[in-house]
Amino acid sequence: MGEIFAILSGKGGTGKTSVCAGIATALAEQGLRILCVDCDVGLRNLDISLGFSDSSALSFLDVCEGDYRLEDAPRHPAYPNLFFLTAPMNRATESIDLPSFSSMLRRAKGMFDFIFLDAPAGVDAGFRLAATPGERFLLVTGAGPAAIRDAARVADLLELMGKQDVRLIVNRVRKDMLKTVRLTIDDVMDTAGLPLTGIVPEDPQVTLSASFGRPLLQYAQSSPAAKSFRRIANRVQGFHEPIIFR
Ligand SMILES: Nc1ncnc2c1ncn2[C@@H]1O[C@H](COP(=O)(O)OP(=O)(O)OP(=O)(O)O)[C@@H](O)[C@H]1O
Ligand SMILES: [Mg+2]
Repeated sequence: MGEIFAILSGKGGTGKTSVCAGIATALAEQGLRILCVDCDVGLRNLDISLGFSDSSALSFLDVCEGDYRLEDAPRHPAYPNLFFLTAPMNRATESIDLPSFSSMLRRAKGMFDFIFLDAPAGVDAGFRLAATPGERFLLVTGAGPAAIRDAARVADLLELMGKQDVRLIVNRVRKDMLKTVRLTIDDVMDTAGLPLTGIVPEDPQVTLSASFGRPLLQYAQSSPAAKSFRRIANRVQGFHEPIIFR
């Protein structure tokens, strides 16, 4: 049975979409069957980070409402095990039927090894869309103490929802920040009980690859962020992979 990961953050622009695409492509590279679902209704952009062309778009609503089947989800042009459902553009998130969405994802668990839900920023309807069916959670945060504490607040919300297996990814870390970041992370791990699952370096290739509509792991396969996503993909599968920062 596959597992459903929700990629969340309270704050906007922390790198959820980039991290989601990076981990999903790293797992697909290893031959695992992956479904990515963009939950950012009205503001979708996971297609760009994954390197899917707009013409191949099928929205999760098309499947939830029964117009298409999960088997119709477009396949990635370079990763034959990676499939994608985009977010609808012309609907309000509040109007999406959460039970139908959850039931579609339950079916997907029988077809894929991992399902990734890329959530929008904030803690309202879009957050609930991804958090409710989610089984494992990656909170993507920036390196500053305020951003990390914001993620800890999201972890509190998840705890109220009865969710477990919540982990932190600190994104866009620069080498010169590392000492401070380590202290802050230690603090958060102690106070919020939020384990760290990866540190992703600041890497211009992340933005460059997206602007060329290519997945980072293909466009700059040995770049620092690409290497970090591969290590996180190993940890996600339970393999021992020490947290290092180069
Ligand atoms: N590790 C990184 N190094 C450099 N740039 C990055 C990194 N991660 C993300 N970015 C850049 O930061 C910007 C925001 O990233 P992204 O869209 O992934 O964030 P998001 O959390 O999904 O945003 P939103 O909350 O709007 O959905 C993008 O321009 C992206 O290219
Ligand atoms: Mg995003």
